[in-house]
This record gives sequence, structure tokens and C-alpha cells, in this order.
Amino acid sequence: MIDKQDNKKGNVMNNIVVRVEKSGNRFNAFDADGVKYTSQITTGARKKAFNNNMALEQRVNKSGKNYWWAVPMDMYEATTKPVVPTSSVDVPAEHDEVVNFIHNSYSLKPQGLMMNELKWKYLIRSAVRGKNILMTGPAGCGKTMAAKSLVNALDRPDFYFNMGSTQDPRATLVGNVHFDKAKGTYFSESLFVKAIQTPNAVILLDELSRAHPDAWNILMTVLDSGQRYLRLDEQDGQATINVAEGVTFVATANIGNEYTSTRVMDKALMDRFTIVEMDVLDDKQETELLQYMFPHVDVSDLVAVAEIANTSRVESNSESGKISTAISTRSSVEMAGLLFDGFGIDEAAQVCVYPQFSDDGGVDSERTFVKQLVQKYVSDGTSDDLFNEDELDDESDYDDDF
Ligand SMILES: Nc1ncnc2c1ncn2[C@@H]1O[C@H](COP(=O)(O)OP(=O)(O)OP(=O)(O)O)[C@@H](O)[C@H]1O
Ligand SMILES: [Mg+2]
Repeated sequence: MIDKQDNKKGNVMNNIVVRVEKSGNRFNAFDADGVKYTSQITTGARKKAFNNNMALEQRVNKSGKNYWWAVPMDMYEATTKPVVPTSSVDVPAEHDEVVNFIHNSYSLKPQGLMMNELKWKYLIRSAVRGKNILMTGPAGCGKTMAAKSLVNALDRPDFYFNMGSTQDPRATLVGNVHFDKAKGTYFSESLFVKAIQTPNAVILLDELSRAHPDAWNILMTVLDSGQRYLRLDEQDGQATINVAEGVTFVATANIGNEYTSTRVMDKALMDRFTIVEMDVLDDKQETELLQYMFPHVDVSDLVAVAEIANTSRVESNSESGKISTAISTRSSVEMAGLLFDGFGIDEAAQVCVYPQFSDDGGVDSERTFVKQLVQKYVSDGTSDDLFNEDELDDESDYDDDF
């Protein structure tokens, strides 16, 4: 308890300094390791410290009794683990090795992943330097593929969690409480708890932007370079698990206006990551990818698919664009797969592209626009003449009856 009389005479105990966090209408006190001291401090003292933005330090008075004394927040900050600088300037030998590894790492990129050399090296460098990585970009542009390729390129234990499909974040990230007649109540920890305790693990948090906000909250301390612990429960005591040395988190997020179903990610959570933005492929790169994947398909057909996809991207990005979403690389790979299996471009588009575009508005609908775009490549039988928007506008009498 805070006892003003004893301030000057009190001795500092164990150097325990806590910060008060407000959660709902409760004021909880945690030290820098996440150990909870709430029950040892009166509600009034915690509330006051919180309101005054002060930390509380554990002290002992002359009669050997503990009490908590309000101290400047700096004193709490000083007890947080120093952020270990990851630069290796002090160890040049090791540094040379790391630099070599990063700069020769492009050969570790799978050929089937289209990603430019600088981006790939940046990805590898971020992982080697123990940064949390967040791969961002629109749907189907290769975020998950790049993250998985990174995991494969590094010879380290890896774990995969699809955060987008997590219904119960606490069960997935922390664990479950069970009851057994013989054992009574017991706790079974999650795979995630095991993952974070595995030194040098690479932990993939796929679709983090679609995760439940509870999951983001649980991950806050885990991802913070100054904290790196998981709080197991709301009880007092040592209920935290530290993230092991060398653990790297790689997350993916759909970030962009068009993703209305994606909860906008919390700014504080975003701040805990190094962002690696996936580039959307242009038509040349896309053709190259499709040719690599489907060498037996007629090149002009693959060029057509790549150009259709590319035009849809340019159109959806332009302010006066007639469509709001684009055909992703995932979709063009699917189309090329159908071509490989003997379907025509129009058929491939019908099954894997048109359903993505709304037909609201009839002849002015997004779907009509895309149908006209595809038809450009079907009716000519060639992809020689580039798609021309003005021409498209004149084609309103085009037969739209699929
Ligand atoms: N840059 C790329 N290089 C190679 N293939 C790609 C690329 N982008 C997309 N693809 C193809 O599209 C498929 C989907 O990619 P991926 O799952 O990585 O997309 P994503 O960005 O994670 O999408 P989402 O946002 O929907 O999760 C891949 O299996 C691959 O065939
Ligand atoms: Mg993905």
C-alpha cells in the first residue's frame, strides 16, 4: 500500500516496478515481464497511478512491510528489457556471413514465385535480423506464397497459423481449460505456445488482417520487441511465457480499400511489423509466370490472359475506372490451368472471372465491362491488337448474353 510517510525511509525491494493498465473497468498492474501484481495493490492506488500516468514501485518499510510507491513512468520504462540491437557491427566475422547470406539468397527463391530480387532480399534480411514481417497487398498477389517460400528458404523450425479462420483466438493462441473427473480442471496449451518457445522458429500468421480483434490483443505483447511474452491468463502470478530467442513472425494482410470484409488492422499492431509490400505483377511478368507454369499452353492465349488481368488492374486502380476490383494473379493462374485442360478463354473467364464481378446495372455493370474486355481477345482469335478502351465504349450493342 502506498504510505506517504514512509517514502524517504522505505527501501526498494527487488526493483519491481509496475505499470497499471485499464481493462474494462479494472485496473491491472503488470511488471515489465508481464507478471501481474494487481492483488497486492489497493484499487485506489492502482487507479490513482493510472490516472496520473505514474508507475508503482514495490518498497518495504522499516517494519518489513511491503508497500507500493508512485514513481515516474520512466522508472518503469527502465525495467523493461532493453531492445537488443540486431546490428552486428561488433562481430564483423558473423556480419560478413550474414551479408553474404542475404545477398546470395535470391537463388533460394523458388522459380515459381515472381518477386523481384530486392524485395526478396529485403524479406530474407528482415527474417535474418529477427524482425516481425507483415506481407501486404491485394488478394491473390502471392503474399502467402512468398511467406511460405521464405519459411522454406530458412533452415529453421516453422509453424503455420491461419488467423483468418480462427473462431476462438484464446483457444488457438493460448489454450483450453478442460475438466476431467480424475485430474480435475487442467489447462492444455495451444500449438502457438509451443511455437513461441521454440528457439529460432519462424511463425507464419496468415491472414492476420482477418483475425478477431481478441487475437490482435493477445499478440500485442508477443510481437513487441521490448516485451515478447504471452500472457496465459488473467490470474495473478507468473502466468506468462517468454518468446524464445531468434523467433521470427511472418504475417500476411490484405490491406486496401476494396477489402471491406477485412477488419482494418489496429495501428499499434501494424507498428510492430516491418512491412513488405507485395508488388502486383504487370502483364509481362504475369505472362512469364504463366509460361513457366503452363509451358504447353499456346503463348498467345497466355498473353491474352495476362493482358485481360492487367487491364482489369489498371481499370480498377483508375479513379474513373468502371470496375472496383481486379482479376488477381490467382485468377489468371486458374484461367491458364483451364486453358491447359482444353477450355477456351471465354469459358475460363465465365467460370472463374465473371462471378467475381457484379451484374448490377445490366449493360453498365462491372460484369458487362469485363465480358467486353474478355471478348476482345476471343472474337479476334488473337491478342495482337491491344485492348482499347474507347473501342470498348462503342461496343454497347455487343451481344452480352452468356
Ligand atoms: N507473385 C506471384 N508469383 C507466383 N505465383 C503467384 C504470385 N501471386 C499469385 N500467384 C499465384 O496465385 C496463387 C495465390 O497466391 P497466394 O495464396 O500467395 O495469394 P495471397 O496474396 O496470399 O492472397 P490472399 O490475399 O487471398 O490470401 C498462388 O498459388 C500462385 O499460383
Ligand atoms: Mg493468403
